[in-house]
Amino acid sequence: MVPLVVAHGGAGADGAHSAGCVVACRAAARALGAGASALEAAAAAVRVLEDDENFNAGRHSAVRLDGRTVQMDAGVADADGFGSVAGLEDVAHAVDVALAVRRSPHVMLAGAGAQAFARKLGLVSPTPLITPRRVEHARDALASLRDDPRWVHADVEAVWNFDTPPPAAVPPPTGDTVGAVVRDAQGKLAAAGSTGGTAWSLRGRVGDTPIFGAGFYASAHAALVATGIGEEIWRRMSCRAVHDGVAAGTPPMEAVVQYVRAHPAAWDVGLLCVTPAGWGAASNRNMAWAAMEGDRVVGRGG
Ligand code: GLY
Repeated sequence: MVPLVVAHGGAGADGAHSAGCVVACRAAARALGAGASALEAAAAAVRVLEDDENFNAGRHSAVRLDGRTVQMDAGVADADGFGSVAGLEDVAHAVDVALAVRRSPHVMLAGAGAQAFARKLGLVSPTPLITPRRVEHARDALASLRDDPRWVHADVEAVWNFDTPPPAAVPPPTGDTVGAVVRDAQGKLAAAGSTGGTAWSLRGRVGDTPIFGAGFYASAHAALVATGIGEEIWRRMSCRAVHDGVAAGTPPMEAVVQYVRAHPAAWDVGLLCVTPAGWGAASNRNMAWAAMEGDRVVGRGG
């Protein structure tokens, strides 16, 4: 079977940045060529995307509502199991922490314990990982907060949970989340995703990316990753919902296109899916993405 890799840089990420997703697909294909599993290859793609300044993950993660802090989530899965992590700080490759959780007795670590686990692995940077570009984004007007469906009616003062008072400026919209799905030469499937969450987030907020069934899912039938505003993706358990349609016989492209069309239009969503027989990619926003079969690019956004 010809290996297949599909990678994305997030719903809301300019399709012009799909070149970065091609680079990520090539990294996964190289890993497969060197004998890596589908799971390791999906993580290799995500590592490249986490390093890409155009995407919201790793050191380029969106800054939260206080304009100064970042928290990251990640998840990895194949048909044999999954691992995920939530609320990491100052980690360039959250996907590597999720991979380590996958090998641990647990399926998810969060908050202070996740941070201690990442530190023990030597994956926490000794200096804060916040880029000047993301801090600059954080200077945009507080008024844009109301563009986000979660915050339209929210009392910002009442829910504020940072140590510092609300700033006069909050981050603007950013591309959301990176992810990849892989089918190896044996037909084994895997999914991996990583995110800085969303810019308009309180401290401790967790989205869909580390939630098995919501932000990622894998079985022998299909592997999926999601991108978009995590609260709605989690409520709908989007990856599991699409997975079940595909497992029942819907072709993967048709399944993801139908799903994003039916998603409430105010909420960003994007999905990638790979099966033993094909793949799909769709979003209700611009999305940077690319699909590669063997060494041939067979689809891309932009
Ligand atoms: N999809 C990423 C998040 O909502 O955190």
